[in-house]
Amino acid sequence: MSKQGSGSGKGGKVRLASIGAGMIGAVHARILARLDECEYVALCDGDAAKEKMAAELGTKYYRDAREMMDREKLDGVIIAVPNEMHEAVGTECANRGLHLFMEKPIATTLESADRLIASARKNDVRILCGHHRRFNPLINAARDAIRSGELGNLVGVSVLWCMYKPSEYFVVGDWRRRKGGGPILINTIHEIDNLRYVCGEISRVYAEVSNTTRGFEVEDTVSVSVRFKDGALASILMSDTAPSLWGYECTTGENPFFYPTKGDIYHYLGTKASLTFPGLVKVHYADPAKVGWQHPISTTQLTAPKHDTYVEQMRHFCRVVKGEEEPRTSGEDGRRTLEVIMAVAESGRTNRPIDV
Ligand SMILES: NC(=O)c1ccc[n+]([C@@H]2O[C@H](COP(=O)([O-])OP(=O)(O)OC[C@H]3O[C@@H](n4cnc5c(N)ncnc54)[C@H](O)[C@@H]3O)[C@@H](O)[C@H]2O)c1
Repeated sequence: MSKQGSGSGKGGKVRLASIGAGMIGAVHARILARLDECEYVALCDGDAAKEKMAAELGTKYYRDAREMMDREKLDGVIIAVPNEMHEAVGTECANRGLHLFMEKPIATTLESADRLIASARKNDVRILCGHHRRFNPLINAARDAIRSGELGNLVGVSVLWCMYKPSEYFVVGDWRRRKGGGPILINTIHEIDNLRYVCGEISRVYAEVSNTTRGFEVEDTVSVSVRFKDGALASILMSDTAPSLWGYECTTGENPFFYPTKGDIYHYLGTKASLTFPGLVKVHYADPAKVGWQHPISTTQLTAPKHDTYVEQMRHFCRVVKGEEEPRTSGEDGRRTLEVIMAVAESGRTNRPIDV
């Protein structure tokens, strides 16, 4: 059983294990193996082929999470299994007193998220939900510019995400074709969380959803109109079935798996200035006496520090496990993002705007 407020490993390090070593679990596993803040005790994956990965990373391998938890002394666990298993695996770990890093979405329904949050509370363990973009320095620079009023009052945001998923993506993980998978829950959820984190709370969404191209049970293309509580608007266009330069992962270079491209995918529009992302070019009138579309407009390059988003997220999790920091995305916060994305899905099904 873990002790909140302390790392139980050597030198006060937290003892962590990971469950699920697929596309994102492998990224976490490689980070855990070299992070000074933790002891990477074990990797668990139901697929026995992942034993090799554990050996390469110098950690123990388990095929079964229960057996791993029976045998190993742990403080926390990184859960990166398919969406529909989050509640079951998360609850099992919470009942063992382990702090949870839960990949996004926190769960596939609000009821499931509520049950998981309640289990964590009952067992006095914390949840950090894997909305990793909150650790991206470029996102934080955009957030600072907006929240400090540098752009004036935010009036709107345009969001474009278009990256072509190859056919093997749906063969290796066929859960991605079925309800509970799909780009709304896998990808659009990141855009919604970004909008909430950078701009503020969302009050209404309206979505048009299409599965015409791939013909799967889940959508391949989504268009969402968003209204924020303060009256600002956003427009999101997403597709996983068209080649393009304009996706968050490829333009930010956050995860080397994705082929890097150049281009701006978000445009934040304020009453005093606009901002591109990830380019961080601020567009504004330099002379306050000459404001209006007939006048020259200036650009200023904003800057951001450089660090690895996924490493920073895992360092934060170690501090959360030790009780040194509050989770940047708590279970409740992850649930709030889930609530908005559920409204997007519902709007797509019912063809009507949904208040959140
Ligand atoms: N934050 C991000 O950047 C990001 C990126 C991709 C995926 N995700 C999320 O991470 C989760 C995993 O996605 P993925 O794309 O890595 O999936 P994946 O299908 O590539 O990998 C899932 C892995 O979990 C293993 N697994 C399944 N059930 C298990 C169990 N009960 N015990 C142990 N191992 C089990 C599978 O064998 C597989 O190796 C999803 O919730 C997804 O939404 C987050």
